[in-house]
This record gives sequence, structure tokens and C-alpha cells, in this order.
Amino acid sequence: MENLENIRQEILQCNACSLSQSRTNIVFGEGNPNAKIMLIGEAPGEKEDLAGRPFVGRSGQLLRKMLKDNGIDPENDVYITNILKCRPPQNRDPLPQEQELCKDFLKRQIRTVHPKLLVCVGRISACKIIDKNFKIMRQHGQLFKVGDYMATATLHPAVILRNSSNLPIAMEDWAAIKKMADEL
Ligand code: URA
Repeated sequence: MENLENIRQEILQCNACSLSQSRTNIVFGEGNPNAKIMLIGEAPGEKEDLAGRPFVGRSGQLLRKMLKDNGIDPENDVYITNILKCRPPQNRDPLPQEQELCKDFLKRQIRTVHPKLLVCVGRISACKIIDKNFKIMRQHGQLFKVGDYMATATLHPAVILRNSSNLPIAMEDWAAIKKMADEL
């Protein structure tokens, strides 16, 4: 019987791509394994690689604050993971081949958690999950059907840290996400 711990154990053994050689820790995912909302980021950064936990650096702190400010408890209301489970060096974008090699782990996590709503955090995640031509500034906040799941995307918190005028845009998405999840 598949469960999250089996998947995590397999990732610990994974050496399908070169990121397995440079990682300190895998970053599997955390939160409520029965959550209605599953957040899917891009890849671990330096802090996440050291901690073995997703979204714990500066972007993660902002993400968790936006969740809380919209009535979403980061510990109890969501399950959080990433497209890649290992950190790309110097936080470069995940390569298409790395994303492809890691995809099956994510698919299995999604099937196991079986959330009502997938939330892609950032462009790279939205392009992998929703549509390869996804335009994040144009299509964020919209609801899509992806296989058996409903999915939406919002701006990556790193984009807000770079330009704070993006904050109200993302806050509107999170308010809508809370409402969508309550209604699903
Ligand atoms: N950015 C991401 O996309 N994921 C993390 O876990 C941390 C930063």
C-alpha cells in the first residue's frame, strides 16, 4: 500500500540526476497529509536544503505569512511540497530534465494526499502542472482542471520580495484560494 513514507524512502535512495550528489537533504514535503490544499513550489533553496523542509527561507516566511493573513494555517490546512526534491546549485531554475525525472514522485504524492485543490506557487510550477505555456502574470488566480484535480497558480513569493507592488496581487490570489478550497 502506497503511503507518503514509502515515497520519501525512495527519494532518499534516488540518484536519477546530479542534484542527488550536491544535496545536503532531500526536501520531501510537510503539512497535513489529508489537506484540501496542496501547495507546489519550484525547488528547495539553500535554507530548505539545510533544513530538509520546504519554504523555510525568506520566500517561505513570506508565503507562510500570506497564508495566515488569509485564514489558511500553514501547519493544518495545507500540504506543501515542490516540483524538485533536491536543491539546484546556486538556486538556478530546475532543468526540464530534472523536472521530468522528479515528476513521478510528485504525482505519487498528489495521489496519496488527494487534495481538492493544487496551488502552483510560481511560474515554473504552473508551467509543469497546468500548461507548459502558462503566463503567470496573466493567468494567476484562475481555476483550471488538470486530470482529476482542480488547480490554480499564484506568484512566487520571491517575485514579491523583488518587487513589493506584487504583494496585493498575490494576497488577492490567496483570498480567492481560501474561498475556492472552502467551496470545493
Ligand atoms: N522556493 C520554492 O519554490 N520552494 C521552496 O521550498 C523554497 C523556495
